[in-house]
Amino acid sequence: MKSDLRGKDMVTVQEWEKEELESALDVADHLKREWAREEWQHHDSLTGRSLFMLFYNTSTRTRNSFEAGINQLGGYPHIMTPDQLQLEHGESARATSKILSRYGHGFAVRVLGAAVDFEYPKGTEIVREYQEGADVPIFNMQCDKYHPFQTMADLQTVREKKNRIEDLNFTISYAYAPEVRRPASVPHSSILGFSKMGANVTLAHPEGVELDPDIVDAAEDNSDKYGGDFDIVHDMEEGFEDADVVYPKHWVSTKVGERGVEAEKEIHDQNQHWIADEEMMSNAKDDAIYMHPLPAKRGYEATEEVMEGPQSVIYDQAENRLHAQKGVMALTMGGRGF
Ligand code: CP
Repeated sequence: MKSDLRGKDMVTVQEWEKEELESALDVADHLKREWAREEWQHHDSLTGRSLFMLFYNTSTRTRNSFEAGINQLGGYPHIMTPDQLQLEHGESARATSKILSRYGHGFAVRVLGAAVDFEYPKGTEIVREYQEGADVPIFNMQCDKYHPFQTMADLQTVREKKNRIEDLNFTISYAYAPEVRRPASVPHSSILGFSKMGANVTLAHPEGVELDPDIVDAAEDNSDKYGGDFDIVHDMEEGFEDADVVYPKHWVSTKVGERGVEAEKEIHDQNQHWIADEEMMSNAKDDAIYMHPLPAKRGYEATEEVMEGPQSVIYDQAENRLHAQKGVMALTMGGRGF
């Protein structure tokens, strides 16, 4: 029996019950199978329904997978940037989402990084302001704290490749990049989502690029509740050891705003050996999969051989953005058929 998810927001996977996440992943799998059929035609579960999508930052995967996804469900995407709205005129986020709720059936927003001067967690606070005003489901398309739809796609990908999530050894690791621009939203959402699904989560990073302690505490609580282990290590090899899934990526500490970019960069430059190359991969299980949400700094975070190698599932992850988001939209935006 699927949960009734009509009207539910997705700001973070932590605000969804495990069974609710599983329902959305089941629908995502169903829609993916439909999409793969040669006689595929668009679904009519969201016919006549609009999704308003507001981007403070650029995007390849998120924008195009949401846009294609709502179309494939019979609905319509409205793509907006802040300068096209009356925000500069002083209209609040709360009023904006309240008004757009009168015109459509969902409101999605991406806001992080330079758009909020790296002032963590200002991006999340802005998403919450839109959420307060909205009378339709709010979707967080990435803020400085969370990237829930990346994690939904990642959960779907791991279920496909390993047939389960529970009890798998899942390692999310810091990886070096010469710029200090990537937020911690993917590792945050990964440790929340995979701990909730019962994986054994290992978080690997150098000293100085810690995640938000509140998120780490929440992930540890998930592990206690759902039966997995949760470990933090400060050595990449140790993190990769015996892993079924490795997910090495760059992130900046949540302190970058107060430290300043130059001070943050000094910490990262001391950790250039945190790279997923073939030698590092050999610490994981032979059949381990390599994940990255993209875009990546190739040659820094991971070598070309690893990114394009037989263990890599990066393009499946990118594809599953489409299917996972369709699963959530179909269940929450009040459509028919699920
Ligand atoms: N992974 C991801 O969110 O990609 P985009 O920034 O291209 O949307």
